[in-house]
Amino acid sequence: MAKKTVRDIDVAGKRVLVRVDFNVPLDKNGHVSDDTRIVEALPTINYLVEQGAKVILVSHLGRPKGQINEKYKMDPVAKKLSELLGREVVKVDECVGDQPREAIGRMRGGDVILLENVRFHPEEEKNDEKFSRQLADLADIYVNDAFGTAHRAHASTEGVSEFLPAVAGFLMEKELDILGRLLIHPERPFVAIIGGAKVSDKIAVVSNLLDKVDTMVIGGGMSNTFLKAQGYDVGKSLLETDKIDLAKGLIAEAKNKGVKLLLPLDVVVAPGAAPDAEQKTVPAGQIPADWMALDIGQETVALFTEAMKAASTIVWNGPMGVFEMAPFAKGTEAIARAMAESKATTIIGGGDSASAVKKAGVADKITHISTGGGASLEFLEGKVLPGVAVLMEK
Ligand code: 3PG
Repeated sequence: MAKKTVRDIDVAGKRVLVRVDFNVPLDKNGHVSDDTRIVEALPTINYLVEQGAKVILVSHLGRPKGQINEKYKMDPVAKKLSELLGREVVKVDECVGDQPREAIGRMRGGDVILLENVRFHPEEEKNDEKFSRQLADLADIYVNDAFGTAHRAHASTEGVSEFLPAVAGFLMEKELDILGRLLIHPERPFVAIIGGAKVSDKIAVVSNLLDKVDTMVIGGGMSNTFLKAQGYDVGKSLLETDKIDLAKGLIAEAKNKGVKLLLPLDVVVAPGAAPDAEQKTVPAGQIPADWMALDIGQETVALFTEAMKAASTIVWNGPMGVFEMAPFAKGTEAIARAMAESKATTIIGGGDSASAVKKAGVADKITHISTGGGASLEFLEGKVLPGVAVLMEK
């Protein structure tokens, strides 16, 4: 069922507490190095400003473990936001108590303030009721636009909604709409490409998507466990021996459901994961005993891109190899380019795959890049996200 959004509630002149996910990367000088999450929150902020609401933004930044930490103060974020909005954003050095109360008391309709990192208080991650109430006391309405943090049941993402009317922002609405459609009525053929190092991180998503997709493509470190399950030797490659049976089960499940399951045909191998290591490409079943698979090979790229060409919907989560090292990034880059060239609806589930398309310079050719890594994964696993569950239904 659809959630109410800022459009469904009268915000004019109201104090509106907006939970955003401004957990953005900072460079060594403490400047925001990727402002995607801030840019993506602008439609909600601008709408509230235009409606004459008093916009009170709150976010976490990093994992300061309930302690004040200079490194994780919100000041660089406020500066960046102010530049992007083209208006003053007052940064308040606390997120609950007298300081924000006084700052909010001075606000006029259309003003924007950003509170200090909510994770400087240990009560945030404990979803403490008193702390949730303190946050709620600052406002008349709560808006959750932090899709990237919606899988966390924290005070500012879940607890606060007990005490205020709670609606979604536009980014939250967009993410739920696009990712939700994947699970409910995707345009077919629907292809999922799942990669990343560990099977254990991706079991739930593979399993849930096997009910929805026409083709499941598995690459990256996790594919070794699937290859082993098919009786191949994988040499020194990353392998989760305790997950081999599970991989066998998923292979059988795909067959029963009529889902085409594609695994690497060839892999780029090296004696170790080092950028200057000797490397070669071998068929998937012929990895030398002392070598390890670190990327997919060209034949595999051809197989995977062929499946992508036939698709109407493609979702991708997880790299095809150790893409942080240039010699082993080719497979991941090829998938990023194939995503960009595809005519299908292309969706990237945040995290490393999002970095890969940005690095390949093709981010603007992708239909939707989710702002949530962990959140989009849990969503695609079929889980109900706590920060979404608490929002009012339409
Ligand atoms: C993210 O970057 O995935 C979100 O901001 C959540 O951050 P967390 O994993 O520290 O809760």
